[in-house]
Amino acid sequence: MPSINVAILGFGIVGEGIYKILNERSKAIEKGTGYTINVVSILVRDTTKTRQSTPGTKITGDIQEILSDSSIDVVFEAIVGEEPAYAYLSEAIEKGCHVITANKAMFATHGPALLKHAEFRGVNLGYEATTAGGVPIIRTITGLLPTDRIRRIRGVLNGTSNFILTKMRNEGIPFKKALHEAQELGYAEADPTDDISGKDAFRKLMILSALAFGGQPKWEDVAVIGIDGITVEDVTDASKGKLRYRHIADIYCDENGVRHGGVGPVLIGPDHPLYSVDGVDNAIIVDTDHLGALTLIGPGAGMYPTASAMVGDFLQIIGKRETALVSN
Ligand SMILES: NC(=O)c1ccc[n+]([C@@H]2O[C@H](COP(=O)([O-])OP(=O)(O)OC[C@H]3O[C@@H](n4cnc5c(N)ncnc54)[C@H](OP(=O)(O)O)[C@@H]3O)[C@@H](O)[C@H]2O)c1
Repeated sequence: MPSINVAILGFGIVGEGIYKILNERSKAIEKGTGYTINVVSILVRDTTKTRQSTPGTKITGDIQEILSDSSIDVVFEAIVGEEPAYAYLSEAIEKGCHVITANKAMFATHGPALLKHAEFRGVNLGYEATTAGGVPIIRTITGLLPTDRIRRIRGVLNGTSNFILTKMRNEGIPFKKALHEAQELGYAEADPTDDISGKDAFRKLMILSALAFGGQPKWEDVAVIGIDGITVEDVTDASKGKLRYRHIADIYCDENGVRHGGVGPVLIGPDHPLYSVDGVDNAIIVDTDHLGALTLIGPGAGMYPTASAMVGDFLQIIGKRETALVSN
């Protein structure tokens, strides 16, 4: 059976998830695609940590060991921050590898350039996992674009903020206590600034804008407000009037083609489609000419939801470019 060689950059929550799914589903993937998948190399920062990977996989701290390996067909990227991720993916694309990323901080800024570069080099770039984790929003929008016009996209794009607001309402606890619980449960990072300030939701909104509207608004024109200013009294008062706070990221394109975006807490009533979206879930409403409002709800983060979105991209790439992927 022909094989496809892959490298995984990063072996944290997401990278390990990719590795596990490729192993756990190897027989089904072989049967479905006709290829054996070999995880040839994994990039980490600290090579002294014990990792759960098979002996045939090389664990390295040196990106050049991966990028100089001409047998690698596909690079999964699940490291953290804009750099060096952008530099690594640019080099992988230049060398003719297909790339798949979960890195929203990098992709919000560099996604448009990477997509152009990938097109120029004739390789595929998967980024489903950058936005709303396991919710297939990128695939959905991509599928709608040829036949429909997207008017507006709005939704809960940060599960941590939604979890905190839900806890404050259901249990009457203050913001700090709810945040602490989110951290204990592994929903919020040790440094939760990007989640609670709205920055994480903003980045995902910019990724969606580029896809749906062919570009992003000027970042400085988008008001971004987090949930850190909301008190338990605010939430309780809202509940008395049957209203709920949701942290909503919202973007639309007007008749003149100008994109308008905003991110912040919004008070909504029971007739709003996001009213019942509680806990860590993400939810996105896509308004289009033909469909009206289409709502997608699901897990916005976590090992398996995020990694399965990336493996989904991978399988799509195999389907599209199978002749380019045969390595032996
Ligand atoms: N976690 C989620 O649910 C989720 C959801 C959607 C998107 N994402 C995105 O996916 C990416 C990975 O997230 P994660 O939660 O898996 O992070 P994580 O658990 O902190 O793991 C990051 C991994 O990347 C490695 N790494 C970081 N910087 C590196 C560098 N400069 N060179 C080489 N290796 C480096 C780390 O190596 P060491 O192990 O040696 O430290 C670690 O294995 C992030 O961009 C994140 O925004 C995550």
